[in-house]
Amino acid sequence: MSNIGIIVGSVYGNAQNAAEEAQTLLTNHGHEVELYTDPDISLLSEHDSFLVVTSTTGVGDVPPNLELFYADAKDTFPLITQKKFAVIALGDSSYGDSYCGAGKQMFELFCELQGSPIADMVGIDAMETFEPEADVLAWLENNHAQF
Ligand SMILES: Cc1cc2nc3c(=O)[nH]c(=O)nc-3n(C[C@H](O)[C@H](O)[C@H](O)COP(=O)(O)O)c2cc1C
Repeated sequence: MSNIGIIVGSVYGNAQNAAEEAQTLLTNHGHEVELYTDPDISLLSEHDSFLVVTSTTGVGDVPPNLELFYADAKDTFPLITQKKFAVIALGDSSYGDSYCGAGKQMFELFCELQGSPIADMVGIDAMETFEPEADVLAWLENNHAQF
C-alpha cells in the first residue's frame, strides 16, 4: 500500500468533488492518503506517490489554486525521482486544442521532475459525462494497485 498525496486543481468544484471521492476509495483500499486543495511544493517530499486531479480553465490554463504550485515547481525543480504518479484531467472537448490543457501541463511537469507515470494522462470529457467522479472512481478501481 502507498502513501499518496492527491493534488487538486478546481474552479467550480467538479475536480475537487471527484478528488474527495478518490480519497475515500483509495483509503478504503488501504492506502494512506492526504488531499491538497492549496498545495505547496513541500508536499512532494512527503509522499511516495501522487495523484493529480485537475480541471482546466481559461484557454488550457491550470486553475488558480494550482498556479503557485506549478510556478514554484518550475522554478525550484524539486525532483520526485521514480515516485509514481497519475494525472486525471477534467476537461471539455468543445474547447478544441486546449482540451485538458491543465492536465497536460501537470503531466509534463511531473515527468520533468522525474516522476514515473503509472499511465498516460486520463482525460474526462464533460461532453461525454455529467458524472466525472464516476469515471475517476472506475479508473482508480482498476489502477490503484499500481501506486
Ligand atoms: C471559463 C472556463 C474555461 C474553460 N476552459 C477549458 C479549456 O481550455 N480546456 C478544457 O478542456 N476545459 C475547459 N473548461 C471546462 C472545465 O475544465 C470543465 O467544465 C471542468 O469539469 C470544470 O471542473 P471544476 O469544477 O473542477 O473547475 C473550461 C470551463 C470554463 C467555465
